[in-house]
Amino acid sequence: MLVLGIETSCDETGVALYHSERGLLGHALFSQVGMHADYGGVVPELASRDHVRKLLPLCDEVLAQAGLTRSAIEAIAYTAGPGLIGALMVGGSVAHALALALDVPVLGVHHMEGHLLAPMLEPTPPAFPFVALLVSGGHTQLVQVDGIGEYRMLGESVDDAAGEAFDKTAKMLGLDYPGGPRVAALAAQGRSGRYRFPRPMTDRPGLDFSFSGLKTFTLNTVTAAGEAGTLDEQVKADIALAFEEAVVDTLMIKCRRALEASGCERLVIAGGVSANRRLRAALEAMTAKRGASVFYARPEFCTDNGAMIAYAGCQRLLAGQRDGDRIIAVPRWPMDTLPALAEPRQHGLVD
Ligand code: KG4
Ligand code: ZN
Repeated sequence: MLVLGIETSCDETGVALYHSERGLLGHALFSQVGMHADYGGVVPELASRDHVRKLLPLCDEVLAQAGLTRSAIEAIAYTAGPGLIGALMVGGSVAHALALALDVPVLGVHHMEGHLLAPMLEPTPPAFPFVALLVSGGHTQLVQVDGIGEYRMLGESVDDAAGEAFDKTAKMLGLDYPGGPRVAALAAQGRSGRYRFPRPMTDRPGLDFSFSGLKTFTLNTVTAAGEAGTLDEQVKADIALAFEEAVVDTLMIKCRRALEASGCERLVIAGGVSANRRLRAALEAMTAKRGASVFYARPEFCTDNGAMIAYAGCQRLLAGQRDGDRIIAVPRWPMDTLPALAEPRQHGLVD
């Protein structure tokens, strides 16, 4: 089955073609980062309008990459949530309109399930069951994954997501949005041991996270070290490193605990923050010590992209799941309400 995947939940327009037997045949991404950078974050209405401009040209681009025309598309998958409602509506509208015109099935996909399954696109995909750490701009969750749609939440952030903490720390250090990659790059120049940040909620049992206190700690450190504009570059790098070490250590400790509790030998990390090199290295070391393994997607498939939506959609479409006539757009949508592959699909929504 050849599936066109469409991702428009936030500030990236992603499109891909995934074939159930031949694999990924093409993918293209347009990032709106430059447009939102002036505002220090995503402006939802600007995001929606730009998805309108970019989506169809990107669909044509991936078809051209694969040497195919629209008539080759056998099904369409789009991100139905969670995300920005206007941005989701653009992807859902285009997906449903194309499906109607081509007379093919269409399915709304859960964005975080897309992230979770992105490592399946790699040459050595993880086998089920596994423990997954989902770390993006909006989510920090530990999930027991027994199969597609068989998700049990083990723990999650009680406040900020890890990516959000990176983005806010970047702002405090005078770095542009999105902050994660910039904080990581600055941290590479930092001197270890100059500052020591707390590892929140690691001193008590449990698998939940909290990153808002770390944000306050960063703010206090930055303030004590001088006004943001006048901070010495080396000091900024030292703070970035101390922050990154604290987040990575915290995530690593909770992942180790989750593996211990579940008895699983496979850990999957997914979502934008899973592109972080220090996090990957820490988890490689931790899992190696336990005789376990860690799996992640190539960096471009860690952040938002169409390939993960095409892949996740393809699995569910093959199982016979599809939308009715209505476009589905759900800003908030708990992933553990998704049906398993063999179950009828209800989305937890009124249809
Ligand atoms: O998965 P994603 O693209 O979008 C959401 O679904 O939220 O994740 C974006 C988040 C942002 O907070 C960004 O700062 C963070 O992922 N991020 C990183 C890195 N690359 C992206 N954080 C730390 N290190 C990175 N290399
Ligand atoms: Zn995402």
